[in-house]
Amino acid sequence: MVIGKHPIIFTVFGGTGDLTYRKLIPALYNLKSAKLIAENVKILIVGRRDFDDQTYIEHIRPWVEEFARLPFGENVFDELTEHMQYIKMDFTNPEDYAVLHELYGQYQNAQFLYYYAVAPEFFPMISNNLLSCGCMDDQSTHQVMIEKPFGTDGASARDLHDQLLKVFDEKSIYRIDHYLGKEMIQNIMSIRFNNVLFKNVWDHRSIDYIAISAFETVGVENRGAYYEQAGAIKDMLQNHLFQILSVVLMEEPTKDVQSLFDHQTDIIRKIKPIEAKDIKQHLILGQYQRGSIDGKEVVGYTQEKNVMAESKTETFVALKVFVEHPSYKDIPIYLQTGKRTDQRSTEVLVVFKAVKDQHPNVLTIRISPDEGVYLKFNAKKPGNTQEIVEVSMDFCQSCVYENRLNTPEAYERLLFAAFNKDKSLFTDWSMVMASWGFIDQLNEAIRQSKMMPLPYPAGSHGPEALKQFLPESYFIIKSG
Ligand SMILES: NC(=O)c1ccc[n+]([C@@H]2O[C@H](COP(=O)([O-])OP(=O)(O)OC[C@H]3O[C@@H](n4cnc5c(N)ncnc54)[C@H](OP(=O)(O)O)[C@@H]3O)[C@@H](O)[C@H]2O)c1
Repeated sequence: MVIGKHPIIFTVFGGTGDLTYRKLIPALYNLKSAKLIAENVKILIVGRRDFDDQTYIEHIRPWVEEFARLPFGENVFDELTEHMQYIKMDFTNPEDYAVLHELYGQYQNAQFLYYYAVAPEFFPMISNNLLSCGCMDDQSTHQVMIEKPFGTDGASARDLHDQLLKVFDEKSIYRIDHYLGKEMIQNIMSIRFNNVLFKNVWDHRSIDYIAISAFETVGVENRGAYYEQAGAIKDMLQNHLFQILSVVLMEEPTKDVQSLFDHQTDIIRKIKPIEAKDIKQHLILGQYQRGSIDGKEVVGYTQEKNVMAESKTETFVALKVFVEHPSYKDIPIYLQTGKRTDQRSTEVLVVFKAVKDQHPNVLTIRISPDEGVYLKFNAKKPGNTQEIVEVSMDFCQSCVYENRLNTPEAYERLLFAAFNKDKSLFTDWSMVMASWGFIDQLNEAIRQSKMMPLPYPAGSHGPEALKQFLPESYFIIKSG
């Protein structure tokens, strides 16, 4: 339940955009359905399109019907929309903020939460306009939620940060990496820190290697222009995969949120930099070509809309790193992500050292779309034999209908946390800078070594060179 007698004024900039329709509004609906939005929450939707409250509500109805996790109910939808007000304004025009100023003035002792569901280049402008319109006379009661990308490199991230700091202090900035809101990412910590079975073997004496992967079957869809600037390294590796890596390896934090941030950042800072001369042993870049997904022909990356015909942007990356931490020294960690691959799955594979010549024990944590934990180990084959066979234990969380229904989606969890001023599901500035520190250096090594993406057919696992890059056992585990 959203607690407290202070009203919460939640203002969404970019209220007519894809993110708002597909993620935010359905998440708000789910929260309302679960009775997690109190009566004193006001939702102000800012857009420049010609809606009024009623036409906006009618416009969002099909999005809720299609994208909400919980079944659509007319009563819940009505209850949600009672919180909402549509405000037609151009957020680039300072004069248009008078309407917000007047509205905000109607609330005493309120907490003001802004969601910038707009391109990052608008963040400083909206913040400055909010400040100069007099909307923020007590800055301590104003928080802002922002979406990645947090910059395109370390320097631009710092620039964006400095601009935001002129209006909001660090503790009021909620940086969204929606992976942190996923159920199984949260569960990684519970699994690691509450089971002696895992806690005591989580180091280089027992772990052979770790593979963290996020594969998609989709291509760049309508985001070609953005993706050309980003590529897989900046779109996925710098943020989502590093977040997962930090949770997989960090030391157990105390309940204090700063302790969580410090331990995560500590791991990212300790990733050993990769130099140009060693890059071939550590990195594979790929770009999808024409191929087929689920029996359907699809075009290659360079034939996608808003992509240059001669583009060298990577749509696949496989990176091998080591973390310079006494517990993890010499454990190779493989981070992989790719578009238009043969599978849609995000998972963590922890492969333990094999005993004698037996199969290694393998712990798989599936993050999406399936959620669950799977453990492979060795046992005697039943019957009159001493043969050892590999067996497995499965905990498929998302296979149970009630679990699926009761598991909040990432944006739901993130909005609920922000309403309650819980920063533990958001990305700390120190972590953003630590990951850019590594990525800037990696990009420089790529530039110096003139490494180019290798082609792979859409619908394959990735470039052929992966076969020599990943441990042999990885393919055996994945095929089993
Ligand atoms: N879509 C996703 O699932 C997703 C996921 C993660 C991160 N993001 C990030 O979130 C941001 C928003 O993404 P999106 O996909 O929602 O983009 P989008 O569909 O292009 O939406 C942008 C929104 O900004 C509004 N806008 C632009 N200029 C405006 C102005 N001067 N005054 C008032 N409103 C203005 C647009 O209004 P109009 O409708 O009038 O054009 C629209 O509502 C991007 O930075 C994106 O990278 C998106």
